[in-house]
Order: sequence, then structure tokens, then C-alpha cells
Amino acid sequence: MPYTLNVNGKSTTVDVPADMPLLWVIRDVLNLKGTKYGCGIGQCGACTVHVRGRAVRSCQTPVSAAANVPITTLEGLSSDGTHPLQVAWQEIDVPQCGYCQAGQIMSAVALLKAKPQPTDADIDRAMNGNICRCGTYLRIREAIHKAAASSPRAPQTARASAE
Ligand code: FES
Ligand code: FES
Repeated sequence: MPYTLNVNGKSTTVDVPADMPLLWVIRDVLNLKGTKYGCGIGQCGACTVHVRGRAVRSCQTPVSAAANVPITTLEGLSSDGTHPLQVAWQEIDVPQCGYCQAGQIMSAVALLKAKPQPTDADIDRAMNGNICRCGTYLRIREAIHKAAASSPRAPQTARASAE
């Protein structure tokens, strides 16, 4: 069945079964490989994308539930890796194997949208569903604080103390 998807600001029509997970459509039909398959059962967060601005598990989202609404994948954050979280991720050198990191960043983007200056507890709560088998959690937390401090909305004192 044809569905119109709006992925990273681009509208496209895909002809797939209604219950096909959005993850497979993104990776195998649209060829956007930034979004990863980890567990396939909603437990790891590797497949996190945004639908209507909210972080969702694309392995658990049927394509029929994502038609005609904005979808954002890692590739849609910036064309050149300059989203503040991508920059902070590089500066802190967060990834180890890297497999979980697209999902981590997409969850972090949703967190900073909802809470531009999160505490450690906010970060731990928001990132709780994103599993990293390499244990990069402390660097993830540091990178989120760094991105928050570099935001134009960040208080000057917070930005100064982060430098
Ligand atoms: S692959 Fe979707 S939550 Fe693990
Ligand atoms: S960096 Fe390896 S699983 Fe997270």
C-alpha cells in the first residue's frame, strides 16, 4: 500500500505493507543507514527517530502510523554534522563501537528540546531507554551538558563554566 512519508523535510511515497516497521522503511527502502537495528523489540533505543518531534522506537512503529507527519532521522539533524549535539559528541569523543550512538543522539535532541538545561538526573531519566553496551554513559552525559551550554538559550554563567 502506498504511504507518503515526510523524512528529513523531504516528501516521498513508499509502497510497503501497513505493518512494516518504520525502521525497515528508513533503512531498506529509503536507504538511510544512520538509524540502527539493535534488539527489534523496543528495548535498546538504537532505532530511535523522531515522529512529530517526539523520540520513538522505529522498530515498534508501523509505517502506517508515521505517514503524512514529520519524521527526522540522524541524517536530518544537519547536512554537515554541525548540530550542537553532533559537535559535542565529536569534541567529547563519545562513541566506542558507535552502534548505539545514533539512537543516543536522537534521544538527546528530544531531551534538549523539552529541557534546554537538563540536570544529571534529567539526563539519566531521559536517556534511560538507550542502552550502550560499551558503557559510554558518562561521556554521553558530558556531551549533553556541553551542547546545552553552547546553546544560544544557555545562561552566560553556565556557558562560561563549561569552557
Ligand atoms: S532496535 Fe528498536 S529498541 Fe532496539
Ligand atoms: S558505543 Fe558501543 S554500544 Fe554504545
